[in-house]
Amino acid sequence: MSEAKIASVNEIPSDLLKQLMPSHPEDVLIAFDDFEYLMMRYESAILEVRTKLEILNSELTLTQDDSPISSIHSRLKKPASIYEKLVRQGNDINLRSIEENLNDVAGVRVICAFVDDIYKVAKMLVQQDDITLIEVKDYIKNPKPNGYRSYHMILEVPVFFTHEKQPIRVEVQIRTVAMDFWASLEHQIRYKKDLPQYKADEIAAELKACADTIADTDCRMLAIREKLGTRGDKEKKK
Ligand code: GTP
Ligand code: MG
Repeated sequence: MSEAKIASVNEIPSDLLKQLMPSHPEDVLIAFDDFEYLMMRYESAILEVRTKLEILNSELTLTQDDSPISSIHSRLKKPASIYEKLVRQGNDINLRSIEENLNDVAGVRVICAFVDDIYKVAKMLVQQDDITLIEVKDYIKNPKPNGYRSYHMILEVPVFFTHEKQPIRVEVQIRTVAMDFWASLEHQIRYKKDLPQYKADEIAAELKACADTIADTDCRMLAIREKLGTRGDKEKKK
């Protein structure tokens, strides 16, 4: 990595930047003073959201015999992806631009067993008084044309550091195990770009059909659970 620190590259227009795309774009960001510090702040926000989710799940498991969350995954966006997204969106390449323009540097994915758990978890998280809801995209009620389903929220959480409290944005995606299975496979397949058009269309139609079958199965599983009335048994016995 170069020793030189970059003061500002704001003046460079984004189309020129695209042509000048370095072979290791991550080095451009890493060279900024405080890049590491910014990433540490996003990592802290991830920890905070994960902890909130784990506490909610533990409490519900204990009090209602109900574990709405099957698993929690998180990731910090890689410097090369941050750089690529800023360029793609025509934004400046600097630290303030990352904070202002990217909502998904910190990402948390929550996997639930049943569809109603998704809304339950989302509601419980958002109603906490230190969380600010910035944006919701409900791709369950409004699936994407390719069949993608998931509940997305952009949240702002305050993180306490030695001298200050800072609001940090986190993208939270909540989906069922079945939706996650579909999204992971679709993501893998999407990058196979060397297919002839007719093959790609055929696969897209097949994936859409699979997504609809999965959504139907999610619905039926929920109906079975409701028929059995196995949720919240502990609560009812009290
Ligand atoms: P991005 O630029 O991709 O972040 O899109 P966006 O800002 O419009 O946000 P959106 O809520 O639509 O999607 C954010 C994230 O959801 C993506 O980065 C993926 O992780 C996931 N996602 C969205 N659409 C799809 C899809 O069609 N397939 C899969 N597998 N994942 C998707
Ligand atoms: Mg994204």
